[in-house]
Amino acid sequence: MTVAIAEAAAAKPNPATDPFDIVVFGGHGDLARRKLLPALYHLDLEGRLPDDGRVVAVSRGTMTRDAYVAMVAEACLGDAARGKGDAIWERFAARLQYATVDAKDAPSYASLAGMLSGRDRTARVFYLATAPDLFGPIAHNLAAASLVTPVTRLVLEKPLGHDLASSQAINSEVGKVFEEGQIYRIDHYLGKEAVQNLMALRFANSLFEPLWNRNYIDHVQITVAETVGVAGRWAYYDKSGALRDMVQNHMLQLLCLVAMEPPISLEADAVRDAKLNVLRSLEPIGGSDTAHLSVRGQYRAGAIEGQPVPGYQDEPDKAGASDTETFVAIKAGIGNWRWSGVPFYLRTGKRLASRMSEIVVEFHQPPHFLYPKSAGAIEPNRLIIRVQPNEGVRLQLLNKQPGPGDPKLRQTALNLSFADIFGDRLPDAYERLLLDVIRGRPALFMSLAELEAAWRWTDQILDGWAQFPLPVKPYTAGGWGPAASLALIERDGRSWFEDFT
Ligand code: BG6
Repeated sequence: MTVAIAEAAAAKPNPATDPFDIVVFGGHGDLARRKLLPALYHLDLEGRLPDDGRVVAVSRGTMTRDAYVAMVAEACLGDAARGKGDAIWERFAARLQYATVDAKDAPSYASLAGMLSGRDRTARVFYLATAPDLFGPIAHNLAAASLVTPVTRLVLEKPLGHDLASSQAINSEVGKVFEEGQIYRIDHYLGKEAVQNLMALRFANSLFEPLWNRNYIDHVQITVAETVGVAGRWAYYDKSGALRDMVQNHMLQLLCLVAMEPPISLEADAVRDAKLNVLRSLEPIGGSDTAHLSVRGQYRAGAIEGQPVPGYQDEPDKAGASDTETFVAIKAGIGNWRWSGVPFYLRTGKRLASRMSEIVVEFHQPPHFLYPKSAGAIEPNRLIIRVQPNEGVRLQLLNKQPGPGDPKLRQTALNLSFADIFGDRLPDAYERLLLDVIRGRPALFMSLAELEAAWRWTDQILDGWAQFPLPVKPYTAGGWGPAASLALIERDGRSWFEDFT
């Protein structure tokens, strides 16, 4: 190799080994402690971070670096550290810096600027894990402090607004400083392994795609059930509710991955365009139809795993009476050739019977059934994608029960459990997404157009609820939501799939 070629090769960017700085605004907050720092630590543990990679936590509070490192140690050193010795923790701790910055106060960015000086060519990520009303001011103050370089990326956490107008206002402020290509809007559901696998299942196999349409699929159910309540987040949640908190983002993204056309590649624009087409094809739900096509619920006191829990209105940090929904069910439709007439039933709620997120694709019954009634109940084929926990894929089939005499059919499943096949620990969604941001891969992040299309659809439902008030139906914590949610699907002659074996 000549010297010139060797120099050129050395200068070529290599996202896997090039240095980076990730600056976390809200570095002291709940998300940073619970998710972001443990995710970065796990990446380091697995040797995925380049040696010269730094994590700068930014927060308004004054804190010494040592105190911050001690706090992060507490957040990170759980199971993962066991048996690995201290060396990796020491390596990770050495990456940590702490800067006191008041997001709205331009002069206070000086300390951060000092930490980043001399590293203008280093990949730089600003991760805004703060309230969204700070996104605009932070973007402007970063620019004013000359901290935005051509290799800077900006990560925006949800909620990105509480409706289309507020979302546009935030994006427009941020857009005055950052190019669209620099903005990474995070939806952590897109980083979940089973969600990623949904793409592989559909597009790396030839088995399903020919059947993936209205001719073979009767309906789709998407359930995201949580056992947690909203204690500790009442102030945020009460202004949001389940529709904005879960449906507008996570559930619509799941729906998009189920319903989208095969993208022409896995490049960001191709995948985003395919999802955008789904969002734009969602049949509007609004006006008086909203009451038939949606259900709102709110949990009352009950028990989760045998332990009594208070109702939403009795949570310790409640701030008065509220009719915010902690549960929502929706019958959605997609107006295009592939999906016309196929309902997508969505439901999500807090304080439900178990933590379980699942996508169920239910196929039509066979056109002509050969077996007598005595053979047993005729269950349709179902493809069940378990998003969490116990990630995996099941295909339910009718089989003949072995034995002589009259035939008996029994429903059994081809069962692919990720834990059995790939081992116990699946990386947290944030590990994958953070690594993608550091390496400059935007495919798993939402485009502005997607975000706006999702808000447009959600806003119509919110308007429908405002025009034709839909009372929140109480449900007991530890159940599966209000009875009206059962009625929503049962009046179509279908039922929620609740075999969580
Ligand atoms: C967040 C919501 O986006 O997702 C929370 O704001 C919710 O209310 C959480 O609990 C669920 O995420 P996961 O990964 O635990 O299913």
